[in-house]
Amino acid sequence: MPLFDSVLQEKPAIVLEMGYAFTKLGFAGEPNPRSIIPSEVLDHKAKSAGKTAANKKLFDFANESELYDQLVEFLKTIFFKYVLVSPKERKVVIVESVLCPTQIRENLAKALFCHFDVSSIFYVPTHLVVLATLAVETALVVDIGYKEAIVVPVYSGVQAVFAWEAQPLAAEAVHERIRTDLVANGVAKELLTDFIVEDIKVRTCFVTTRERALKWQHGETFQACPEVEYPIKGDEVIKIPGILRETAFEVLFPDDNDRLNLANIILNSILKCPKDMRKVLAENIVLIGGSAMVLGLAARLKNELFATLESDLYKDKLFVKSFKFHKPPTKANFTAWLGGSIYGATDLVLSKSLAREAYSKNQQLPDFINYEETRFYARG
Ligand SMILES: Nc1ncnc2c1ncn2[C@@H]1O[C@H](COP(=O)(O)OP(=O)(O)OP(=O)(O)O)[C@@H](O)[C@H]1O
Ligand SMILES: [Mg+2]
Repeated sequence: MPLFDSVLQEKPAIVLEMGYAFTKLGFAGEPNPRSIIPSEVLDHKAKSAGKTAANKKLFDFANESELYDQLVEFLKTIFFKYVLVSPKERKVVIVESVLCPTQIRENLAKALFCHFDVSSIFYVPTHLVVLATLAVETALVVDIGYKEAIVVPVYSGVQAVFAWEAQPLAAEAVHERIRTDLVANGVAKELLTDFIVEDIKVRTCFVTTRERALKWQHGETFQACPEVEYPIKGDEVIKIPGILRETAFEVLFPDDNDRLNLANIILNSILKCPKDMRKVLAENIVLIGGSAMVLGLAARLKNELFATLESDLYKDKLFVKSFKFHKPPTKANFTAWLGGSIYGATDLVLSKSLAREAYSKNQQLPDFINYEETRFYARG
């Protein structure tokens, strides 16, 4: 069936990428999400206890029914406040990580089908759809978001799920470092809300060079970058020391015995792949996720990769000579959303979606770990 006969005459699908920190939402076929909103819901318990900042993370839940209620509340906000269309009989594209917990997937499907009556859900895996934005078939996709950094190689349009690697090396770890450091410098804890710490990070911190980071680690003296003053609550000012600005992101490159920093997990993932895949993966690295947008990350990561390659862990096993990074056409925090938007505008949305009728018969969801299914998604 030609594309113009089928998909374009239909109402465009709604594309959702629900991250732990931010949800990206919009319509299939569009180049940018309509909105990027915090993945938060009203914290009813805190509100009834009289607390003011009564918001909580969507994916923080005590039990399954709480998760379901939070998802319903959050989806209501999405449909009726942001995309402003009725979800009834709409197609929905969900961009999700291969590591998304089953409990969340199942409750999201239940909420969309049973509460909002959507006609179908098209599940697409984050790491795979990123390749559609670059029109390549092979890449090593590194997603550095809020909770963790997840590496999944994709080869000839198939995810090499056996070679995935993940470590909690992302925004949350950086926020923790900034908070502890500022509190140790005498800043009141109450001032350092999640929002303020994130703002301080985005506005003032950056990734330093490997040479300077080594000097800092070895306690050598070096001239740090200037400190900045961060105004808060009108008249108060927080002083952000230059050393913190420069080294806050060093938590992504810990030099400890575990040997599981960002460079290590990338090299481990390449090492888990067969020999003939390794060179091409090393030369097709794609960095996605909000934390990959920080100044200096790609350059530092490249230096770390070369330096780590020389260590005894990889010296005699991994013989790659160069690392190259792709430059996706969008900002890194919504590259995966754009991939979902591209997939959602093709015929695949008709043939590969999970329809409401099929879901009502048996509540089985597509499984990306299944090789046949992943191949199917990739080739169409
Ligand atoms: N320019 C920037 N510099 C540094 N950090 C940034 C920048 N832009 C966004 N971020 C950070 O990226 C993080 C969010 O990234 P992203 O939207 O990829 O996370 P997520 O998808 O919600 O999380 P996860 O993938 O772990 O579920 C935030 O913590 C934000 O502070
Ligand atoms: Mg994410």
